Amino acid sequence: MTIPLRDFRAILGDAHILTGDAVTGRDAGYCAEALDAGVILRPGDARELADICTLARSRGIALVPQGGLTGLVDGTASHEGQAILSFERMTTIERIDPVQGIAVVGAGVTLAALQEALEPHGLVCGVDIAARGSCTIGGMVSTNAGGARVLRYGMMRQNVAGLEVVLADGTILDMTSPLIKNNAGYDLKQMFIGSEGTLGLVTKIVLKLWPAPKGTACALVACTGEEALGALFAHMRDGLGSGLSAFEAMWRDYYALTTARPGYGTPPLPTTHPVYAIVEASAADDEDAREALVAALSTAEGPATDAVVARSESERRTIWRAREDSDAVEQGYAANLSYDIGLELADIGPFVADIGARLDARFPGVPAYLFGHVGDGNLHVMLGLSDAQHAARGGFDDLVYDTVARYPHSTVSAEHGIGLEKRDYLDRSITPEMLAVMRTLKGALDPATILNPGKVFCTGRGEF
Ligand code: LAC
Ligand code: ZN
Repeated sequence: MTIPLRDFRAILGDAHILTGDAVTGRDAGYCAEALDAGVILRPGDARELADICTLARSRGIALVPQGGLTGLVDGTASHEGQAILSFERMTTIERIDPVQGIAVVGAGVTLAALQEALEPHGLVCGVDIAARGSCTIGGMVSTNAGGARVLRYGMMRQNVAGLEVVLADGTILDMTSPLIKNNAGYDLKQMFIGSEGTLGLVTKIVLKLWPAPKGTACALVACTGEEALGALFAHMRDGLGSGLSAFEAMWRDYYALTTARPGYGTPPLPTTHPVYAIVEASAADDEDAREALVAALSTAEGPATDAVVARSESERRTIWRAREDSDAVEQGYAANLSYDIGLELADIGPFVADIGARLDARFPGVPAYLFGHVGDGNLHVMLGLSDAQHAARGGFDDLVYDTVARYPHSTVSAEHGIGLEKRDYLDRSITPEMLAVMRTLKGALDPATILNPGKVFCTGRGEF
């Protein structure tokens, strides 16, 4: 399949179609095949994108939408004969309305750029993720990003007030009304959130905003195990109520690895405890937040064996750096595998024991690093591997997902999505009836299968 570049040029002009070195010279992010299509189309707005879709559909050209390339499930993989869609020209922050509590932004705006623009208004975007410097709001919507503050503000789905979406046939759906109460028919925008670019292309987002916490306090707490961790979570939630803004965990090997990174300095707590929680509180000012956090911790001796409360912004950052630096696993091994499990809170302890025992039995010596957003039941498991082990990744995937499937209310993807990586395991987490409805939606909205084909599930057309 050759890409009709001349026709795309008629829509976009020369400057906004990239080929050759202009594509291969780019950073492919976490997906090795992201740039393999070799052609990048850069529409400036929904109208241009709609024209691209109409043309692509008439020629049977598949379009692979890409944001900041920070995804971890190969949802941006492309191949020859396809065209990559970049949203990097849609970087306008159109409106920040502090009264309505919304921001209207182009899909290509990075989270960090939005955070910076909101700061003078004393507002924040509810979702915050470690990839904030490069991830885009459009990418976050299409993957329903989660992160470290879901506990307080929800996932992207709960933070999107409106959307503009371009469909495969070139229809532009204007769903940008920011009304909170609006029961006029189906809430169509929800269908596109988390659909990984397979149902429509998000061009503009109306985001719900939150008042920036006036004060925060943060503690690193050591626990003897998962049971204590669960008890600590319940205790802190009781003590802090809606002031509990994050509850994250790191198991020993992960904490030891990230705090041993060059330049980290002395770990805030010794690296000998089985598991660590980061607990964050928000309140009217830093002092109130700190008092509330210390008060709640002071009655947590049962679950907590040791704790340190950050005394400055720099100490707070040091604690969070230990949690957010999963690149330490990437850098430490020739290859790695990253899993994104969701479980009921009561199942986290049994799952950790279960996966440890199974890995030891089948792949002795393979290091497993555990961390995650345990307040949301979201556990990340990263395996440090050699290239040869990675080449035989099916054995690891089967082991992890077979273990996940032992727990009735579990998911193979809590927040990273399915992409290509977890496609073969999707049926562990949804019923055949649910998959059938997904296929019906895909068939109705994208019958020619031009939008990110092969991602989430196989459609049998032009995919990997
Ligand atoms: C995190 C990414 C891996 O939580 O989701 O750091
Ligand atoms: Zn995460």
